[in-house]
Amino acid sequence: MKEQIRDQIKSAAAIIRGGGLVAFPTETVYGLGADGLNPVAVAKIFEVKNRPTFNPLILHIENKDRLYTVCEIPSEKVNDLIEEFWPGPLTLVLPKKPNVPEIVTGGLNTVAVRMPDNLIALELIKESGTPIAAPSANLFGQLSPTRAGHVQKQFGDKIDMILDGGKCSVGIESTILLIEQEEITLLRPGGIPLESIREVIGEIKLYPKKSDRPNAPGQLAFHYSPQTPILMLTVENIEKYKDEKIGAIFFKGNDSKFNFIKEIILSPAGSLSEAAANLFSTLHKLDDLQLDCILIEPFPQEGLGVALMDRIQKAVAKYEMS
Ligand code: TXA
Ligand code: MG
Repeated sequence: MKEQIRDQIKSAAAIIRGGGLVAFPTETVYGLGADGLNPVAVAKIFEVKNRPTFNPLILHIENKDRLYTVCEIPSEKVNDLIEEFWPGPLTLVLPKKPNVPEIVTGGLNTVAVRMPDNLIALELIKESGTPIAAPSANLFGQLSPTRAGHVQKQFGDKIDMILDGGKCSVGIESTILLIEQEEITLLRPGGIPLESIREVIGEIKLYPKKSDRPNAPGQLAFHYSPQTPILMLTVENIEKYKDEKIGAIFFKGNDSKFNFIKEIILSPAGSLSEAAANLFSTLHKLDDLQLDCILIEPFPQEGLGVALMDRIQKAVAKYEMS
């Protein structure tokens, strides 16, 4: 790690210890961090993000043993999961210990924890000497940031510092699992595919699509939306918008026989992980082009395609309803 970034991490850690807000890179998306054990600092996150409710946050830790300081371990499978997937894009929701402030957990008796796979993030948490509470560093409902510039665009001077770690390598948020004694439940598909999780711990329960628990992740009808209307790329939608300025996003290539003003292919080689790494930055880019609409091709519902489709369906839902 270069000397310059080390100095920046030291300044950022001082801000965290002082109760301020720092945006930092992780392997998934940029996070907006505060001292996770300081409720006043955590409250500032909700304020600048404009979150309408106190949606619970993820605590980021820099070493596996820290887990035992913030939560209980109700199942042996937790150790198998963290051995296999940490550091990495897997968040575990576990029974919280009393030292975790209520504002972090939205009043729930569980806390979400993960160890990010990014050297700048790990060094920042270590230097800060506290778990860092962080949601994705975007305004409520808007696109997740995968570059420092995306954070700058949405927050500018409203936060104390942005650590620039370049492009996020995974590009899509962590997979979230709720761990209970009897069973393990998927709360949000993400950077670790379900198939890989099943290989380690066997069958897991899928969270019901519709729920009366709006506090739980993935339960909002829409999210992750660009400002430009976005819809699925279908024959009907091409027909409907063909006289307007359309930007199109494809997985491997354009098979539609239609030429769009702007076309982006996420992974010519057909790699879902490459597509995930490029999805949000592509949406940010197209959102800056003053297009009338963005059409996006569906992904195969396997591996990371499940998480990609989850994000796209939520982005599209906002415009399908209007
Ligand atoms: O990859 C990620 O997970 C990124 C990076 C920054 O780590 N973070 C992220 O945070 O996506 P956020 O706040 O945008 O999404 C976290 C989700 C929320 O939907 C929240 O409802 C859920 O985690 N969550 C947090 N604590 C929970 C809990 N105790 N029970 C159920 N859901 C919880
Ligand atoms: Mg988010």
